[in-house]
Amino acid sequence: MTGTRDFEGMNALVTGGASGIGAAVATMLLERGARVAVLDRETAGAPAGTLTVKADVTDDAAVRDAVDRAAAELGSLHTLVSNAGIGSIGSVEDNEDDEWTRVLDINVLGMVRTARHALPHLRRAAAERPGAVSITQTCSIAATAGLPQRALYSASKGAVLSLTLAMAADHVREGVRVNCVNPGTADTPWIGRLLGQAEDPAAERAALNARQPLGRLVSADEVAAAIVYLASPAAASVTGTALAVDGGMQGLRLRPADS
Ligand SMILES: NC(=O)c1ccc[n+]([C@@H]2O[C@H](COP(=O)([O-])OP(=O)(O)OC[C@H]3O[C@@H](n4cnc5c(N)ncnc54)[C@H](O)[C@@H]3O)[C@@H](O)[C@H]2O)c1
Repeated sequence: MTGTRDFEGMNALVTGGASGIGAAVATMLLERGARVAVLDRETAGAPAGTLTVKADVTDDAAVRDAVDRAAAELGSLHTLVSNAGIGSIGSVEDNEDDEWTRVLDINVLGMVRTARHALPHLRRAAAERPGAVSITQTCSIAATAGLPQRALYSASKGAVLSLTLAMAADHVREGVRVNCVNPGTADTPWIGRLLGQAEDPAAERAALNARQPLGRLVSADEVAAAIVYLASPAAASVTGTALAVDGGMQGLRLRPADS
């Protein structure tokens, strides 16, 4: 689809759009003709050409103001990509209640707040442009496979998967499609930070590569391409779907390479 301008005349808001997957989505949407706003708590890394609205997704009033400002400055809102999120390491014994509250507040309630304030704008746009209006949320392989040392993170992304389905049902008759993308381990600054904390970063990267049947990490652009597809008019009949971009990690069961 490179070179297509299928988002011409459409306006998009990308949360967490100043880094990694979100920045790749914002760049791709711009290339495809959309006007794009980035909502992030740190906007310095937002791609050139985007409108930045600084907000922390844990602050309901700040999210409302940022969403309203983005919609006002862009003129309307057709596309919400709800992508801001953080990681958390450990088994169920390792994190105290305040860490559970902090991560769920960002990863789950952050998406709730963003959608809550975007929906009035999205409904208005849907009335004018059927099929083109959508919410796409960044979920994770952690929602559908048991990964070690990711109890809290997995619970947060499991909630995002269920939330996606419930929202898709609630808003289908309003013309707002809702889907999510489930990346495997993606090569973003987040994973760079994770590897930086490992005792042996090279061995950790090799283990993450080997865990995905394709034998490598997923790129931010590959995840962005799936998100942009789900948000595009070509996906006008797609709602309530979770699209895996995980190098085969969820669906495949391979024999060892030498057998
Ligand atoms: N990288 C991976 O391997 C991977 C795999 C599966 C899912 N994901 C999901 O993809 C999404 C993006 O991850 P990434 O790898 O691009 O990470 P990243 O750290 O590169 O980018 C995340 C962005 O979200 C922003 N953000 C974080 N907390 C925020 C808050 N409270 N308010 C506003 N903005 C906030 C950060 O400032 C940053 O710009 C996350 O939801 C993550 O759970 C990532």
